[in-house]
Amino acid sequence: MKILVTGAAGFIGYHLSELLLSRDHQVVGIDNINDYYDVNLKYARLNQLGVDKETAAVFGQETTSQSKNFKFIRINLEDREAINQLFQQEQFQVVCNLAAQAGVRYSIENPHAYVDSNIVGYVNLLEACRHTKVEHLVYASSSSVYGLNSKIPFSTKDTVDTPISLYAASKKSNELMAHTYSHLFGFATTGLRFFTVYGPWGRPDMAAYLFAEGIRKEEPIKVFNHGKMERDFTYVGDIVQGVMRIIEGEVATRKEKNELYKVYNIGNNNSVKLSDYIENIEKNLGKKAQKNMMDMQPGDVAKTWADVTELIEDYGYSPNTTVEEGVKKFIDWYKIYNNLK
Ligand SMILES: NC(=O)c1ccc[n+]([C@@H]2O[C@H](COP(=O)([O-])OP(=O)(O)OC[C@H]3O[C@@H](n4cnc5c(N)ncnc54)[C@H](O)[C@@H]3O)[C@@H](O)[C@H]2O)c1
Repeated sequence: MKILVTGAAGFIGYHLSELLLSRDHQVVGIDNINDYYDVNLKYARLNQLGVDKETAAVFGQETTSQSKNFKFIRINLEDREAINQLFQQEQFQVVCNLAAQAGVRYSIENPHAYVDSNIVGYVNLLEACRHTKVEHLVYASSSSVYGLNSKIPFSTKDTVDTPISLYAASKKSNELMAHTYSHLFGFATTGLRFFTVYGPWGRPDMAAYLFAEGIRKEEPIKVFNHGKMERDFTYVGDIVQGVMRIIEGEVATRKEKNELYKVYNIGNNNSVKLSDYIENIEKNLGKKAQKNMMDMQPGDVAKTWADVTELIEDYGYSPNTTVEEGVKKFIDWYKIYNNLK
């Protein structure tokens, strides 16, 4: 299968590309390699995919990889011309959109970054899918669309009309626009509401990495909502297995069943106390955290928990990595990446 993975230098995009390549798919990865967090981590991930930094850094330059089925191009989703040209040239069967301006808190200071990447860029992809007859667009939504929903676990049947951050609003609008395009132009769209993904090569702006950094450097870590947070932490390996099943899944049957538009939760089906998560990081680093207890952050929610029944039923999704196993794998990688003994 010929697949476009956007955000291929990102955390989930890198893992997904690696998995798809191991299954002999032809993968084209794009990313604008923005500096929302350390670009060296993005280049290091690309390096794992066989792409070197010097060539990957040039906008618009096609970079072949040591892996024969992978190539990478640095492109902005907002660059409509470049996106159209790429789609015309490659004629993708499936597109997996993981490129986005991520982060809930950052959207309060930098709203335009979200509109540029998550709205303008996303519409460019929808249009390119439409005009080049892409069969299936799989795209990242987010658990943040549940906003202040207090019904647990979160179900895709719950109403999600009350986002409390611009990030969440941008992801919800992705789902709405996907519905329009599936309806009008007859291609399958699958939105995936990810729930706090963690694991090796993880994002430095997310809890696992921030906590590990603080504990290692013996600096206080910020613990929001005075530690009374719970999250459906999902191991990245489980996530990409699920995404891969959807990408490889049949779309013809969805067409017959009139189910071209779909949205799923993709989480671990379990909510873990933040204090237990921190304890696992402490154990694996062999050091205790200094906790700076803080109030709840604007735009944040106290508890997330994904009901993943639909994804299990429709695609045989099977998250099976416990937080103990997943945090160990994350810290093992973290130590190597940061040259720690
Ligand atoms: N990691 C999580 O816990 C989580 C949770 C919910 C949703 N998501 C969503 O999943 C997707 C992947 O997340 P991630 O954790 O891998 O994030 P990430 O930031 O590591 O990856 C996103 C990549 O997209 C690229 N990008 C951003 N804007 C772009 C643009 N306009 N054009 C081209 N490239 C662009 C970035 O450079 C980055 O490498 C995102 O859509 C995110 O919103 C992630």
